[in-house]
Amino acid sequence: MDWNAWDVEAIRRHFVFPQAGRVVTNNAASTQPPRELLTLYHALAYDYDNVHRGQSSASQRTTARFESAYDDIARFIGARSRNSIVAVRNTTEAHNAVMYSLLAEFRDGDNVVTTMMEHNSNYVPWYAMCKDILPKFGRRVEYRLARFDPLTGELDMDHLKSLIDRRTKLVCCTGASNFFGTKNPLADVRALAGASGYVQPTGERRSYLLVDGAQLVPSSFVDVQALDLDYLSFSFHKMLAPFGVGVLYARERLLESSPPFMYGGDMIAEGRVFPEHVEYNALPWKFAAGTPNILGTIISAEAMRILLDLALTPGRLRHFATDKPIERATVEAAMGRVATWNRELTGRAIEGLSRIPGIAIYGPRDAARRSALVAFNVAGRSPMDLARSLNEAGVESRAGCHCATLAHHALKLNPPASCRLSFYLYNTREEVDRAVEALVAIVVRGDRGMASGRQIGARRNPLPPTTNSRYGAATAVSVY
Ligand SMILES: Cc1ncc(COP(=O)(O)O)c(C=O)c1O
Repeated sequence: MDWNAWDVEAIRRHFVFPQAGRVVTNNAASTQPPRELLTLYHALAYDYDNVHRGQSSASQRTTARFESAYDDIARFIGARSRNSIVAVRNTTEAHNAVMYSLLAEFRDGDNVVTTMMEHNSNYVPWYAMCKDILPKFGRRVEYRLARFDPLTGELDMDHLKSLIDRRTKLVCCTGASNFFGTKNPLADVRALAGASGYVQPTGERRSYLLVDGAQLVPSSFVDVQALDLDYLSFSFHKMLAPFGVGVLYARERLLESSPPFMYGGDMIAEGRVFPEHVEYNALPWKFAAGTPNILGTIISAEAMRILLDLALTPGRLRHFATDKPIERATVEAAMGRVATWNRELTGRAIEGLSRIPGIAIYGPRDAARRSALVAFNVAGRSPMDLARSLNEAGVESRAGCHCATLAHHALKLNPPASCRLSFYLYNTREEVDRAVEALVAIVVRGDRGMASGRQIGARRNPLPPTTNSRYGAATAVSVY
């Protein structure tokens, strides 16, 4: 890629946060919204009414915008049509939706395979289903956890293969880990799930595959048909939209055959509710019970449109707030460029951080193998303190287990925590350097941090030994 062609300054002009001097490196949690999106949100609020529930022109217009948001989402991920799209609150709700819609189908003796590198939202629902819910109905279903390689942060494909068998109804796997950053080999996982021989109620002989796309979709080109996914989840608040809307993609046939997981208004066929009999609505509205997050859904689709524009032509918004169809080639080109920029920033961060004595960086060493985040610990230092000191230095990171609690336990991190920098398309190389330098100052010189460019407190804090750390340098992936 010609780096000059990635005009990060032009991109940043669309955002408010740079003017506040914020160095936002917590993008794996949530990204920042472009100003045009907020303005649009405001403007739409003057012209809205409920969807599918009004004869007013405002209701008709809002309904048209809402429905076309579904079309945009479908095109963005390569779904055949809006019938495969379920708008939910977030990725977590999407995983729970899959669990509730498959609940009745799990047979005694079945199993569900997930991995040790999942976000809790792709483990705890399966745990709850197997341990809390199905036993109450006299059904024993087992969950199985595929290991990862603690040295590389890569999924152990041999172990995964050994766990999948003829009773595996579903395989769950993150597209990209929010702790290691590892991008999993989804085609290989699909092949394993596809070869299980499990007989689904539809007659198909294979395990379904649910991919958690929360970290993958915002920064990669994803094509649900090319990957042959049964389910894909993601959240728009990680791709420029405000909070509140996520997506469950599911193959249309699965949505047709599965029961709704929410019941009530709008998910029923108009007028077809009787004392003895209820008919459900056609897709995708069968899965849209109650008044949905209407503005949130419309704005989320516009966030995808502006994402394409920022990646391709930040000086001129061509897709945002227009009816221009979203072409697959456009999505591929734009997301390819986002991925490449993220790789540049992540590689630079890994290289810079590697110079810090006692640091343990988790996940694959090669930035091309990972999403745009770097989690680490420094021997003898609390990750929470590091994140707080970084904040004092004006760098917004995140410390904790990032809801990847199983992976932190597997690495024997005590407490189960790490500090994480994560980037998005508006971050600059200088911001990466500033984050690294702030960390060097905190770790090596003992600085507590800088506020508004002014050092507000420095203390001598000689580095403790790099081994046998509470924070796991000894067990971690790469120790420098
Ligand atoms: C990989 C992964 N899965 C799931 C989630 C949960 O997303 P949400 O909080 O939007 O439900 C996250 C959030 O950080 C994530 O990184």
